[in-house]
Amino acid sequence: MPQIKFYNRPAVPMEMHKVKIVQKLNLLPARQRLEKMKEAGFNTFLLHNGDIFMDMLTDSGVNAMSDNMQSAMLRADDAYAGSETFYRMRDKLEEIFGIGNLLPTHQGRACEHIIAQHFVKPGNCIIMNYHFTTSKAHVTRLGGHVEELIIDEGLVTKSDYPFKGNIDLEKVKACIAKEGAENIAYMRLEAGTNLIGGQPISYENMKAATDLARQHGILTVLDASLLQDNLHFIKTREESMKDKTIREITRMIADLYDIVYFSARKFGFGRGGGILVRDEKLFHDMEDYIPMFEGFLTYGGMSVKEMEALIIGFDETMDEDIISQGPIFINHCVTELDGMGVPMITPGGGLGAHIDARQVMEHLPQEQYPAGALVAALYLCGGIRGMERGTLSEERNPDGSEHFASVEMVRLAFPRRVFTLSQTEYVIDRVKWLYDHRHMIGGLRFVHEPKTLRFFTGKLEPVSDWPEKLLEAYIADFGEDQ
Ligand code: F0G
Repeated sequence: MPQIKFYNRPAVPMEMHKVKIVQKLNLLPARQRLEKMKEAGFNTFLLHNGDIFMDMLTDSGVNAMSDNMQSAMLRADDAYAGSETFYRMRDKLEEIFGIGNLLPTHQGRACEHIIAQHFVKPGNCIIMNYHFTTSKAHVTRLGGHVEELIIDEGLVTKSDYPFKGNIDLEKVKACIAKEGAENIAYMRLEAGTNLIGGQPISYENMKAATDLARQHGILTVLDASLLQDNLHFIKTREESMKDKTIREITRMIADLYDIVYFSARKFGFGRGGGILVRDEKLFHDMEDYIPMFEGFLTYGGMSVKEMEALIIGFDETMDEDIISQGPIFINHCVTELDGMGVPMITPGGGLGAHIDARQVMEHLPQEQYPAGALVAALYLCGGIRGMERGTLSEERNPDGSEHFASVEMVRLAFPRRVFTLSQTEYVIDRVKWLYDHRHMIGGLRFVHEPKTLRFFTGKLEPVSDWPEKLLEAYIADFGEDQ
């Protein structure tokens, strides 16, 4: 269903669900937030959830379950081996994707671990439309390298291009010619391309890219973790697909790939993961990893209760009313802020609203982590937890120098079915306040820098006393209890 129309007021996004269970929120007084931020080493990953008002870090594992998902948990068949829940899950995925060979995993990066472990040899190239942090880390750990062949429009922050997640077919051809098809372990296309702002890839582009791969005998892999938003965008933005059902589109997409994997922390509103392998022999070859790294073949590290809920969640992902919610709320947030002059990644994608931190923080060099500083400031000024998606989230180059991100973003994730419109309005208001006070935000530097995935556990400090000064300006406007 499209957005609900209004009679006598401007239309606003409408929640297509009602609240049955709630969790009370806590807004710490402003100065206490500074103490918490210092304890967390200016890293929003290290904050305690109880100290956060609006947790927009991620949509991973924090999406609201439906009543039907919760009630399904009661029928979970707890068994180490041969759980009936597993077979129900496998059958549901086969119904949706047309592939019945399911390797269950505990989450998305476990799928990436196993796929990389099986296919990547030192020196191999892996073609991607764009990398995701964990998908790249698994490849480089094994001595492979990632070629990101996103279309140029994908990295243009302010744009109205409908499918910024598309891969550039000419760059793919050139890459195959340069690397040689035999050196390319696989082509991984990511639906709802996370690190460029949850931007979709079109069906047409997936079809052309996978055709190209197949012509050269290259294995094709879909990361379907963010497929649900991508499905909404294909249905609403791709002319040739608008009369197809979400189920039909999903099946057409799946048919293009040899392997489909997903994080069920996103796809299916629960927690878990899975790899669907088309080829029977390949499936059996990959099976060995599951008992070794994940759990027995019929649960793969997942709670059987979550699996039972996911079976319903997968069906809900095929419901247009449900999957349009995220993109509609995100679009509202992006459009409002863009209209107020705040540099946003446009058009609004899935997953969350993304602030173009490079533009907002023009006064800071990339060495001082502009997106990291902005996201820390947003917690100080509003209790909102976003996620840095810029240079901090990159790994250093082998020579130790910084690898500057092509896009510096602050991501404000919209976990599905979680936040209301008034909460969204609050976020819009605080982001605008911060934008108007952006010149008060200074840089950050590492005091503890892990070698791998440093953004998760690294600790930083401000380069000056800018947090104190910024907070005093905030208190002058809103009072110290907010
Ligand atoms: N692929 C994509 C596109 C993802 O967005 C994620 C996770 C993964 C794979 C890994 O899945 O977390 O279950 O191991 N994204 C989360 C996020 C972490 O916050 O965007 P996972």
